[in-house]
This record gives sequence, C-alpha cells and structure tokens, in this order.
Amino acid sequence: MPEVTLRKPLDRAIRAGAPWIFRDALEPGAKFRDGELVTVRSADGRPLASGFWDAKSPIAVRVLEPGPLRHGAGELAHRLRGALARRLAMLDTARTNAFRWAHGEADRLPGLHLDLYDGVAVARFDGSGARAFYGGLGKVLTASAKPLRVHSAVDREGHVICGDAPGTITVRENGLQFEVSPGRASKGGLFLDQRENRERVEAMARGKSVLNLFGYTGGFSLYAARGGAASTDTVDVSKPALAAAKRNFTLNRLPLDRAVFHAADAFGFLEAAAARGQRWDLVVSDPPSFAPSKASLPAAQRAYFRLHRLDVSVTAPGGILCAASCSSHVRREDLLGSVADAARACGRRFELLDMRGAGCDHPVIAAFPEGDYLKFAIGRVR
Ligand SMILES: C[S@@+](CC[C@H](N)C(=O)[O-])C[C@H]1O[C@@H](n2cnc3c(N)ncnc32)[C@H](O)[C@@H]1O
Repeated sequence: MPEVTLRKPLDRAIRAGAPWIFRDALEPGAKFRDGELVTVRSADGRPLASGFWDAKSPIAVRVLEPGPLRHGAGELAHRLRGALARRLAMLDTARTNAFRWAHGEADRLPGLHLDLYDGVAVARFDGSGARAFYGGLGKVLTASAKPLRVHSAVDREGHVICGDAPGTITVRENGLQFEVSPGRASKGGLFLDQRENRERVEAMARGKSVLNLFGYTGGFSLYAARGGAASTDTVDVSKPALAAAKRNFTLNRLPLDRAVFHAADAFGFLEAAAARGQRWDLVVSDPPSFAPSKASLPAAQRAYFRLHRLDVSVTAPGGILCAASCSSHVRREDLLGSVADAARACGRRFELLDMRGAGCDHPVIAAFPEGDYLKFAIGRVR
C-alpha cells in the first residue's frame, strides 16, 4: 500500500481518533490517485493509520482506521449496516422514514453523508477523494439497507448512483408528511438535523404566535401548527420552498387561514416588522451558515449579531427565541454570547433554557469537534 509520512507531531491525535490529516502535516511530494488507500506513518516510521487519499483537498487523508488496514472488501457494507442498525434502534420508522443513515466521520465512513428519504438514498461526498473511494456504493446500498427497502440513490448534485431517477415523494417525520424531491440537486430534501428541535418547538407552541425565519419548506411552522400555535408566519427568500411549505400544510390538513408565507429577505422582513413594533411569542431563526470557513468568521459574527438584534426586537416580552447556527466554526458559547449581547443592546435579557444540537442520527465524536456543527439555543427574552 502507498505510504505517507507525518512531519507534524500528530501521533497522539491520530491515535485518539482524529479522522482528518491535512496535506501540510505530511512530508511533501506524495502524489496518489483520488480514493487510493494509503498508510500513514509517524516521523519515526511507525504505522499510525490507514485511510484514503484526496489529490486536491487540503485534507489529504481521511482516516478509515488506526494502524495498518485490517479490513477488506466487505467493510463498506458492514459499516453501512451498522450505521443503519443504530438509527433503527432509536427511530420509529412508522412515524419517521426520512433520516440520516450515515454521518461521515462519526460513523467511520469519513467523507460520506447518506440521507434516506423512504426508499431513496441521497449521498454527499466530501471531495473527489471520497467520491472515488465510495465509487462502489451503488452496488452495496440495497443489500445494506435491509430490513428497509432502498430502490434508488442519487448524489447531492442529482446524479443517479443506482436505480431510477427519483421523482417527488412524500416522507414522514414524526408523523408529519413532507413533500421532497431527493433527485433535485441539493435543495430537494429536508434539513434532517433539525428534526428533534422541530419537535421541541411543537411542544412550546400552543396558543402562541410563531415566526419561522429562514423557514424553507415549512418544517418548524408545521410542527408549531400541529402543536396548537395561534398563528404561524414563515419567511424565506426562496419562492419554491415557500410553495412547498404551503403544500405541506395542505398535505397535513393543517389550517391555512392561520398560516402566512412571506417570500422575503429575512433581514428586510425583520427590519420592517421591528419598525412597525410587531412582536411574536415564539421566534425561530435558523439561517444558512454565515461562516463556511474560518476566514469568514469575523464577517459571520457581525451578521449573526445583526440578525440576533432583529430577532430579539420582534420577540414579545417574556417570549421565546430559538436561535440556530449550522457552522462548525461557531461554538456554542459564540452563539450564546451573540444572542445575549444582542438582547443587552436592545435593553433586554436572554435567559438560556436549553442549548441543543443536531438529532440522534447526527452523532458527534470527541475526536472530531468539526462534526459538532449545529447549535440551537432556546431562551426566554425578557
Ligand atoms: C438552514 S435552512 C433552514 C431550514 C429550516 N429551518 C427547516 O427546518 O427546514 C436556510 C434557509 O434560509 C433561506 N435563506 C437564505 N438566505 C435567506 C435570506 N436572506 N432571507 C430569507 N431566507 C433566506 C434558504 O432559502 C433556506 O431555505
């Protein structure tokens, strides 16, 4: 097997399970094909880990296992079956048939995220190394899915991996129905990681006016409506997402006379609402990642602060604000600090009630803090 040698003293971190080895941590000059298996040796020549190569990404090696490679051809199917069994032990598929089947590094399937929408699997490959390494995925998916039935799979770009190209289907999440188009590049699915947070919002919604910012296909609004919300306002810049949100209300026989959908930029919507003095009892603010890289963090922090000030301004006294960040570069304390500072700047106070993350099908491992990307702060605004 090809070999690469560390030039940085990362032996302990790798032994502890760190799954990424950056190119600048290796002796220069190594050149292999995308997806090729490599052994990583310490500076003094001991084999530390085995993984696959990425020819372009700053992450040159994604670690498959510590030490020399012990597993053979059946290992991918074995890891997929194990990941699915762990989900099926936690989820009731009669109520939820859309969930994350495999969560990359945390499931020892580095660089692969696999979502299941009833019989359709959607794969995300992180980089060309992962795409090449998991090239045989289509052949093992159907057998690995047992006892569930998977009839087709696509990647996030909409390319078919196995079976026929899927059309629009209806899936269940905690008993609510959602229309999804998993074959459509990137935007056809659900943000599955927020499932348990949506359920939490449902439990707080009774009798409340609810504002769902960055609402996509209506997830938080549907749960709030089922939980007995007095009204829901869903804001998203995407008209197709809002049209799907409306159809999802109808699909679930939820009353549309108390649901308003606003195709608007959330910042502009909030500024206008704040200027009118409009307030909501429960505000959910779940923006796209403002910090896709570490370099973008300062600009992102300013954007979060601006958003949080507006969020606080439209939250009724004693109301609940749920503020999310889906960037791994934003830590829990950063999110909490931003919301608390924003509240103070408005002459208010944010009392944290619950700090949550992604659902149980998105596990986090200690050796890979980058995987702890979703934060969801729930608090009372006084
Ligand atoms: C993280 S997703 C929200 C997921 C949603 N909360 C759910 O549970 O399904 C972010 C959403 O923000 C929308 N978006 C992005 N920029 C926006 C903006 N400036 N104003 C309003 N919506 C925006 C996107 O169209 C996308 O639907």
